[in-house]
Amino acid sequence: MPTAEHVILRELLAHEPNWVSGAALAARLGVSRVAIWQHMEKLRAAGFMFEAQRARGYRIKERPPALYGALIETQLKVRPRNFSLLVLDQVDSTNDEAARELAAGRPTPFAILSRRQTHGRGRFGRAWHSASTANLYISFAFRPRVEPQRMQTFTLWMGVNVCELLANFTSTRPGIKWPNDILFDGRKAGGMLTEARVDSDQIRDLIFGLGLNVNSTADQWPADLARRAIALSEVTGAPLDLNRLAAALIGRVLLAWQKFADGEHNETFADLWNHYDLLRGKPVTLLEGGHRHRGTVTGLDDEGALLLRDETGRAQRFRAGEVTLEKGSETRDQRPVTKDHKPKE
Ligand code: BTN
Repeated sequence: MPTAEHVILRELLAHEPNWVSGAALAARLGVSRVAIWQHMEKLRAAGFMFEAQRARGYRIKERPPALYGALIETQLKVRPRNFSLLVLDQVDSTNDEAARELAAGRPTPFAILSRRQTHGRGRFGRAWHSASTANLYISFAFRPRVEPQRMQTFTLWMGVNVCELLANFTSTRPGIKWPNDILFDGRKAGGMLTEARVDSDQIRDLIFGLGLNVNSTADQWPADLARRAIALSEVTGAPLDLNRLAAALIGRVLLAWQKFADGEHNETFADLWNHYDLLRGKPVTLLEGGHRHRGTVTGLDDEGALLLRDETGRAQRFRAGEVTLEKGSETRDQRPVTKDHKPKE
């Protein structure tokens, strides 16, 4: 249900860089000009800056650097039936909050964004550093009602979609390190955490969590992380509009979900994977259940398992594990920036 702030923002954004009169906004909302002024004050308090002239009206001068729900929703190009977005100031983990909302019966799909997390989680129970409000911490929830086997390539599919969105949004070269890391030049900019609850032989609900370093600076991370992590703004050389990126990302993930649920993703998955995969042909060590396996990555099988060939020529497949590139093979990314794959936000 759009609020007055949604309507005002939609009008101002649609007319940028032109002015929108207070009278036009008042007529659109069926309220007085004083009421419009009060809404503008509320938006100013959220970090917007407006130019205001008696004869011309209002126009946006600056958007808030922090996440703002109405601004994200106003910029969404995709909005499935029942979709809702929650933007929180702080939460333990957006994945945990999504699980609580699912348990409380919130209709799906929905997305939860938080400006920071106190207990952001990654794979293997690791912490996801979530103190900076300059980054994105988001979880999507779905109730797919499909057999668990159908979900095997889900995170990989979402990963290549996120890569493509980032490549086109920022004209950069992200890559995916199986199964859930998004990297730039060997440093991690994003991680994905998919969690599903299964009822007998069907997925009851599914949570897709994504952490993306967007505008944080190295001094905001602990020293050991600063060497391994990178933010998008470091790659682009300028801060990104967090709300616009969040809207584009939400649109892309919702579309990718729709294709996945309809079974329409198989054709493009292989193509996208080949484009964004950082491991094929590289010597790696894979840690799985306390065992180390060394080999060269030869690709993925149909179930999304990683295929390795060891030095004796023996092929092995892994459904899970943590991959480290052998020293010397984590060279700078030589792939060209391409516009081959256009995002469909
Ligand atoms: C990893 O790289 O191990 C996965 C990191 C996933 C982090 C995101 S941030 C949003 C969502 N909430 C969480 O607690 N984790 C995921």
